[in-house]
Amino acid sequence: MDELIKRAGRDLASSKNVVALTGAGISVESGIPPFRGKGGIWEKIDPMEFAHIDTFMKEPGKVWNVLLKDMKEIIDKAKPNDAHKGLAELEKLGILKAVITQNVDGLHQKAGNRDVIEFHGNFAWQRCLECNKVCETREIDLTQIPPRCECGGIYRPECVFFGEMIPPHHLIRSRDLASTCDIMLVVGTSALVQPAAYMPVMAKQSGAKIIEINPEKTPMTKSVSDYIIMGQAGRIISAIVKEIKQQL
Ligand code: APR
Repeated sequence: MDELIKRAGRDLASSKNVVALTGAGISVESGIPPFRGKGGIWEKIDPMEFAHIDTFMKEPGKVWNVLLKDMKEIIDKAKPNDAHKGLAELEKLGILKAVITQNVDGLHQKAGNRDVIEFHGNFAWQRCLECNKVCETREIDLTQIPPRCECGGIYRPECVFFGEMIPPHHLIRSRDLASTCDIMLVVGTSALVQPAAYMPVMAKQSGAKIIEINPEKTPMTKSVSDYIIMGQAGRIISAIVKEIKQQL
């Protein structure tokens, strides 16, 4: 492990154009469960039943009761961990250009990253299905399920449900970053959900080096990644930042 951390430190220290792709795994140490694998949310509830736009439009109360209310509680309590803080430091050092995140928890921005592409949206915002009013999640009254706007319309989170498109401006910007970066740091994603999982492939095809950080191997490990550092993102990213600072 230490050899790989030194190697990642060398690779990153000699780059000014690093892009990070992050998934639920980077927020596990902040108390937010992953979707898949041990203790994953989708082990308990069926994503096609509770996280698909068709179900939400048909039975918003059911989706709010089973998924969204819990998500709000967990996200409200969560704080950035050492992995988020480490990426913010890499941005400050001028090494990390941007973060493409699949997470809707807003923890990268809370850690200090300024350039974050929220590929799947952000749970901190709600939109009224009737009048399109947008408001902060913390302002909505959850004693009423589904929560309603003063116009009577139902609120939906500004997140991408299964069955919905990725916002085109996020897709275009992420594709540009992926095809021009010289290193893509892939942290805490199972690399199973498209089109996010295609970003490292695009980066690789454009000549970038792919460094994966995950306690487990993923479909990318053999076919796309140059190397994987296996373990918890918090410890690994802090160690890499320390390594870089010694080299700068
Ligand atoms: N540090 C780094 N990685 C971790 C950690 C940790 N502390 N703990 C778990 N992981 C890894 C797991 O091994 C797994 O590979 O994080 C990954 C989490 O995978 P998923 O739960 O599938 O999350 P993600 O890849 O972000 O899912 C993609 O699927 O359900 C949809 O919209 C949802 O954005 C999500 C998308």
